[in-house]
Amino acid sequence: MNKSIEQLKNYLQHNNIHQVLVLTDANVDELYPHYLDPLQSIAQVDKLVIPADESSKSLEQATEICHYMLNKGYDKHLCMVNFGGGMVCDLGGFVAATYKRGVHCVNYPTTLLAMIDAAHGGKTAVNMDGIKNCVGLIRQPDLVVESDLDLLKTLPHQELLSGFGELIKYALISSKDLFHQLQTMMSLSAEAIRPEWIAHCINFKNKVVAIDPEDKKERHILNFGHTFGHAFESLYAAEGHPIPHGVAVAYGMAYELPWASTLQGEDFEEEFEVLNLIGRFYDIPDLTSNMFKTLEKYMRQDKKNKGGNEGEKGSTVSYALEHLRTFKLFDGFSYK
Ligand SMILES: NC(=O)c1ccc[n+]([C@@H]2O[C@H](COP(=O)([O-])OP(=O)(O)OC[C@H]3O[C@@H](n4cnc5c(N)ncnc54)[C@H](O)[C@@H]3O)[C@@H](O)[C@H]2O)c1
Repeated sequence: MNKSIEQLKNYLQHNNIHQVLVLTDANVDELYPHYLDPLQSIAQVDKLVIPADESSKSLEQATEICHYMLNKGYDKHLCMVNFGGGMVCDLGGFVAATYKRGVHCVNYPTTLLAMIDAAHGGKTAVNMDGIKNCVGLIRQPDLVVESDLDLLKTLPHQELLSGFGELIKYALISSKDLFHQLQTMMSLSAEAIRPEWIAHCINFKNKVVAIDPEDKKERHILNFGHTFGHAFESLYAAEGHPIPHGVAVAYGMAYELPWASTLQGEDFEEEFEVLNLIGRFYDIPDLTSNMFKTLEKYMRQDKKNKGGNEGEKGSTVSYALEHLRTFKLFDGFSYK
């Protein structure tokens, strides 16, 4: 049995949990239909499979899951195991936090993005009216199992690229050494991903989240690339050509980095190298003025927006400007 399943079994046994609901998406279920079968020796295991699409991250889908759980008679002793990428973890985490005011919640990440980022930190949400993560709450999962890197071997390349975008972000905000290691990569593959990189990202995120669990200040460092990134994500989705979250973050970083340098009035020494690394893996779009206007519209709807008109203190655009003005990459947080 692999280490991650062993860890989950130990958690269930230690907490005297006998009822498990696995939430997963159709792609993951097709690839790994029996992956969690070993749990059956210690608990009653039920499985709910939802469509593998970001559109499943909705209040309607959450309601359907809650109806299902009610019909099954599940009480607070249930443990939800979110077996999938960030979509499943965000949605499953939201349901686990709200059903009967909270049941046990375990995230079992199957994508690179979820392994290094989305499964950790307790942000749960669903999308609404085309706005990402519009309704949600912060509630830490009871456990995030150790990543099983073998799961990455079936991940489509575009999804690997998505996780890699967040990995570059973590390097930029926390470790020059990690950045230099990423620079030496010739090509991106599941085999090229090192477990110590994943451990570094989780460790860094957990430390930041411990200081600022409610996302009031210090946690904002994790949003590097996301102001533009979320807007790119919404823009492409609205045009009917959705791009994965981490790819949008990579585009976002490419645009936010020069902006941050300008605002801070000093050159970021490694700017060229960073843009070079991003450009080697991602096809960064050129922004027409029309595209920029649409991006601005999405940035104003961002939940970081505190209201106010464009350019005024409190508007998203000024939030982003303030944010970038104070950004210190690599050594912003001297966590080891
Ligand atoms: N909560 C957070 O802190 C946080 C952080 C970042 C992103 N997110 C959210 O995470 C979501 C994106 O997550 P994601 O990038 O993991 O995408 P995802 O969950 O949508 O998965 C991407 C695709 O990969 C497939 N897949 C998953 N695991 C697989 C595997 N092992 N082999 C083959 N295919 C597999 C899925 O079926 C899906 O088609 C977005 O909704 C985003 O908003 C949340």
